[in-house]
Amino acid sequence: MNKYLLTFSVVGTTVGAAVLVKDYATGGTCPSKAKITGKTVVITGANAGIGKETAWELARRGGRIIMGCRDMEKCEAAAKEIRRDTLNHNVCARHLDLASMKSISNFAKKINEEEERVDILINNAGVMRCPHWTTEDGFEMQFGVNHLGHFLLTNLLLEKINSSAPSRIINIASLVHIAGQIDLEDLNWERKKYDTKAAYCQSKLANVMFTKELARRLQGTGVTVNCVHPGVVATELGRHTGMHKSAFSSTILGPMFYMLVKTPTQGAQPSVFLSVAEELKDISGKYFDTFTLKSPAAQAEDADVAKRLWQMSAELVGLSEPTPNPTGATHQMKER
Ligand SMILES: NC(=O)c1ccc[n+]([C@@H]2O[C@H](COP(=O)([O-])OP(=O)(O)OC[C@H]3O[C@@H](n4cnc5c(N)ncnc54)[C@H](OP(=O)(O)O)[C@@H]3O)[C@@H](O)[C@H]2O)c1
Repeated sequence: MNKYLLTFSVVGTTVGAAVLVKDYATGGTCPSKAKITGKTVVITGANAGIGKETAWELARRGGRIIMGCRDMEKCEAAAKEIRRDTLNHNVCARHLDLASMKSISNFAKKINEEEERVDILINNAGVMRCPHWTTEDGFEMQFGVNHLGHFLLTNLLLEKINSSAPSRIINIASLVHIAGQIDLEDLNWERKKYDTKAAYCQSKLANVMFTKELARRLQGTGVTVNCVHPGVVATELGRHTGMHKSAFSSTILGPMFYMLVKTPTQGAQPSVFLSVAEELKDISGKYFDTFTLKSPAAQAEDADVAKRLWQMSAELVGLSEPTPNPTGATHQMKER
């Protein structure tokens, strides 16, 4: 009997310690309990991974959630699951393909026409290390979806977000922005040899620089914009790397990573925190590593490059300058 007691006690202590270590290593849960009843949230890439869990938690907190996804079957299924679990019927699935300017424009038009307000925009969708693909409009896929798609969407929704102030924009960046370089001579990988890893890092650095430049332009409007690295999260993001499919990674690395890698529910906590935390209401233009305000890489602080990136992005997506100002300048897409 004593022998079993000892075994149970050792197993119990080990499991308890593992849970504590994992909780510590993965950053814990959102410290804010704030509700968002009456607020409208637009979130991209909400059918899977971090986006789906963020939508779920914000629905639980009472918001009206508009999920923008490219696969309507997956989007409807996720929205249905969230409505059933949270009993929040204000969760809608809408078509949004960030690799198509036409789709982005249609999505934004519908929101601008049908929604009274947009209090929180979460630019979450992302593609990582895909082959050398291009978007419908000919942009390199990772730069096109992760940066240009969200750049255009944000600008097209800005008047509505402005009129809903105090409101927030959250960009999901990544720690890997530190390895990124913005190549202003060849943003779209048309001249140099394609490097899918570097292209992802460039797109994530662009997320941080877009956040900083937009914050400068939004000063005094009551709209804040911040970006966040969610941590390392077990999602579908690595689908193009092949890593998660290999036997080595599932048998040897898998158990090791279990302790350090977050579940999508844990990975959504930083996005939820930036969306709702009362103490962040006046914070703008900042980079968060999960819940902690940090300095981003030095190249992300280069305001001249950020400004140039903004101008070039506006040209690429056909947006006319001048860009946002406190009086609520509108944005029109130019005919291409
Ligand atoms: N997971 C991590 O460790 C990690 C770390 C740092 C940063 N991040 C960032 O976190 C964000 C969410 O990623 P995740 O880890 O949750 O990955 P995920 O599970 O692969 O989810 C990505 C989401 O983006 C959507 N998406 C991809 N291309 C799209 C397009 N053209 N138009 C509309 N939606 C599109 C996907 O839709 P489909 O299902 O249709 O493909 C999916 O809903 C990304 O911005 C990523 O860079 C993740």
